[in-house]
Amino acid sequence: MTDVVETPAPARTTTDETWWRQASVYQIYPRSFADANGDGIGDLRGITDRVPYLASLGVEAVWLSPFYPSALADGGYDVDDYRDVDPRLGTLADFDAMVAALHGAGMRVIVDIVPNHTSDRHAWFREALASPAGSAARDRYVFRDGTGPDRAEPPADWVSIFGGPAWTAVGDGQWYLHNFAKEQPDLNWANREVRDDFLTTLRFWSDRGVDGFRIDVAHGLAKDLPAELPAWAEVLAAPKDGSHILWDRDDVHEIYAEWRTVFDEYTPARTAVAEAWVAADRRARYASAEGLGQAFNFDLLESDFDAASFKQIIEFNLGLAEQSGSSTTWVFSNHDVVRHATRYALPPRSGDADHAPTTDKQGAAWLLAGGSQDALDRPLGLRRARAATLLELALPGSAYLYQGEELGLHEVGDIPDADRQDPAFFRNPGVDVGRDGCRVPLPWTRTGESFGFGSGGSHLPQPAWFAESSVKAEEADPDSTLHLYRTALGLRGQLQSEERLEWIETGRDDVLAFRRPSGWTSVTVFGDEPYALPAGELLLASAPVVDGALAGVGTAWLRS
Ligand code: GLC
Ligand code: CA
Repeated sequence: MTDVVETPAPARTTTDETWWRQASVYQIYPRSFADANGDGIGDLRGITDRVPYLASLGVEAVWLSPFYPSALADGGYDVDDYRDVDPRLGTLADFDAMVAALHGAGMRVIVDIVPNHTSDRHAWFREALASPAGSAARDRYVFRDGTGPDRAEPPADWVSIFGGPAWTAVGDGQWYLHNFAKEQPDLNWANREVRDDFLTTLRFWSDRGVDGFRIDVAHGLAKDLPAELPAWAEVLAAPKDGSHILWDRDDVHEIYAEWRTVFDEYTPARTAVAEAWVAADRRARYASAEGLGQAFNFDLLESDFDAASFKQIIEFNLGLAEQSGSSTTWVFSNHDVVRHATRYALPPRSGDADHAPTTDKQGAAWLLAGGSQDALDRPLGLRRARAATLLELALPGSAYLYQGEELGLHEVGDIPDADRQDPAFFRNPGVDVGRDGCRVPLPWTRTGESFGFGSGGSHLPQPAWFAESSVKAEEADPDSTLHLYRTALGLRGQLQSEERLEWIETGRDDVLAFRRPSGWTSVTVFGDEPYALPAGELLLASAPVVDGALAGVGTAWLRS
């Protein structure tokens, strides 16, 4: 009889074609990451210089928010030219060097595509303004005649997502639609030239070695505006069942089916992830293999820090992934929301002292706008954020991490109005504090000009407390959040397995535990009481483990 030798499971379960299914993806907001030439704005060379840092984190891919030429009316999501680099951020040669460095260090590269709107400085929009009503140039956008005498009133009373009117006059009686800022005219995706041009853009970046794309406002492209525009109240009330005139129309997927043929021209096939704020049961369409292939699931970032909600969201989304054949995606922070360490630091809802804090962006923004920084429980927020992240990294599917969360950074809540940049702040006075607080340039060192971001200052003010959250400070502290992320991402690489989990009965409502097929067990305590960990080798914990028990809020990983 021969002994059966058990070979260990392979470290990674993915191939070149499926790398994205369970990737850890680090989002870089280029203008706020690292500034190599000292002009106060982060740039591509800054990213290339920090490739060793990214490699030491252990992330598998990097997603870059827009770095294209832009007037920054919306932080770069107002694109002047889709096939170039903003001269302030570098050149195409710098881009190639950055991709080579990231690939050389084993990381994939995802870039952001913004197809719902161009900027108002895009050559097409300039041409549209210089051309008459009814021209081919205007047909690339959504132009309508105004109403009332001299057509001086907007075609309809629609409101933009950043607040304020969604229609702007161009001076000859015509108005254009912009669902975001007025510097972001919406494109007309019924126009063949618009469609073809984006296929060219996808090939342009794919040819330069880009591995995947993040698709901005993916649910907005297809529109079907009737001749008689309905009132805004009616637009808002219309069911979002695929027939809505503005959002999440079924026919948007015809566009993505064309994109898929481009993605599949490459080996490995290029990937895409949809940013589509749609009802959960409509997400699978974006994630289908005939379309973009994956879609963001923002459910955890919109949830309270609560065991029952987390469990329900996890089960639901694993079910959706199975339906679409895709994998799910987990996100706690990005460039559009209040950082999760701060959301989790909010005081209890008024009148409900026992309830976990509200964690949605509006609630947090309201609190921050009210200037109640002192009401935040920052240590608790960070403790919960660390627990949430460790849980996220143990789940099946992709994990999207946002720059600075590996430092446990809090939102910068007290940016003076005069320094703010976000159009959401300016278009919605007193209502929306905007998103600048999560876009403040990263602190690399404890001291020195802009905490090591660059030698030329920082384009958004950095608070004094950044010193102790800097990479340098955290590298010196073995208990830092940076070390936690590094260790967790390293272990995740080794323990990753099939996209399944099995729940473990914990006997407590505020404790969630699950086991992955590789024997990787994750236990999260949402409340304050210590919880005795199950048997197994303790690999990592986000909070102290005392006598085999997790001491309150935290996540522990075990191998069993
Ligand atoms: C997406 C981006 C956001 C931007 C908006 C308009 O939601 O994530 O930053 O403002 O689209 O492009
Ligand atoms: Ca710079």
